[in-house]
Amino acid sequence: MEAILTGLGYRVELAEDGFEAVAKLGLDIDLVLCDLMMPGMDGFEVVRQIRAHEKVSDLPVCMVTSLSGKEQRLRAVEAGANDFVAKPVDRLEIEVRVKALLKMQQAQKALKRHRAELEETVERRTASLREALQAMSQAQRNAHAAHVETIQRLAVAAEYKDEDTANHIHRMSHFARLVACELELPPGHCELILYASPMHDVGKLGIPDKILLKPGKLDSAEWEIMKTHTTIGGRILSDSNSELLRTGEIIALSHHEKWDGSGYPHGLAGDAIPIEGRISAIADVFDALTSRRPYKEPFSVEKSLEIIEEGRGSHFDSDVVDAFLRQLDAILLKRSEYSD
Ligand SMILES: [Fe+2]
Ligand SMILES: [Fe+2]
Repeated sequence: MEAILTGLGYRVELAEDGFEAVAKLGLDIDLVLCDLMMPGMDGFEVVRQIRAHEKVSDLPVCMVTSLSGKEQRLRAVEAGANDFVAKPVDRLEIEVRVKALLKMQQAQKALKRHRAELEETVERRTASLREALQAMSQAQRNAHAAHVETIQRLAVAAEYKDEDTANHIHRMSHFARLVACELELPPGHCELILYASPMHDVGKLGIPDKILLKPGKLDSAEWEIMKTHTTIGGRILSDSNSELLRTGEIIALSHHEKWDGSGYPHGLAGDAIPIEGRISAIADVFDALTSRRPYKEPFSVEKSLEIIEEGRGSHFDSDVVDAFLRQLDAILLKRSEYSD
């Protein structure tokens, strides 16, 4: 058989018995021709071991046997043999069998390679898709952050003209968020109030400096102009697609409304005042009371709370006052975090 196969141009590895055959599987073998009846380890066992071996499990195995018994062949097929050649070996028969089995082996190898390449391509594409999605969500996150930051800066710019400071809007917006959460508004709504309440006085950009910065008391005509910072702010923020800016518009318009209807610009009363405005009002007033202003020293926390309490049911919604008082510790902590 060696002479026949070498003559056909194949390279042949010989094994004395089943043990050597199994040991030689580590070489680059394309086809196994194996006797059935061997001492120690028979052909059935050799095939079984090949099939159980992860790296060579699909290696074609052709049994060479003198037995023509049907039962032997069935057992060999069961063990995993692909084909048979009869002993004594016929040159033409072995040539045809070997050619066919090697062809099958090559097709299988190509299929395996193709599958591996395919898997690699899928993996690569999945990875780049994952990367693209990550980049996209990062871009969205950045855009959102930029959006929020732009609004914060706009609010700070408006406060620049005034006696207020950037810290005032940080403090009052955090107070407002704490009160909103205490009132059990949905978490998303509390966040909106945090980011939108800094815009409450954005309309002051439209108030002439001689009124806005006047050291003394405003006369009634000047006061009327001053009050328009609410409607100017509403106009600046109106008609936006952004939920954040729409909330800002609501707060700009309603943060000076009072529970009893004596506020401005529309004299709304009770529940007619949007909850965002009622919350921002108490946050804004408390911070103004406890802060130094050119015309006043800061009031103590106790004195400021007294003033808030006096406004219960007239200036402020009592439920909002209660929520504010329940959150007082957290509010004072935020106040010290952003002190001037
Ligand atoms: Fe205001
Ligand atoms: Fe304010």
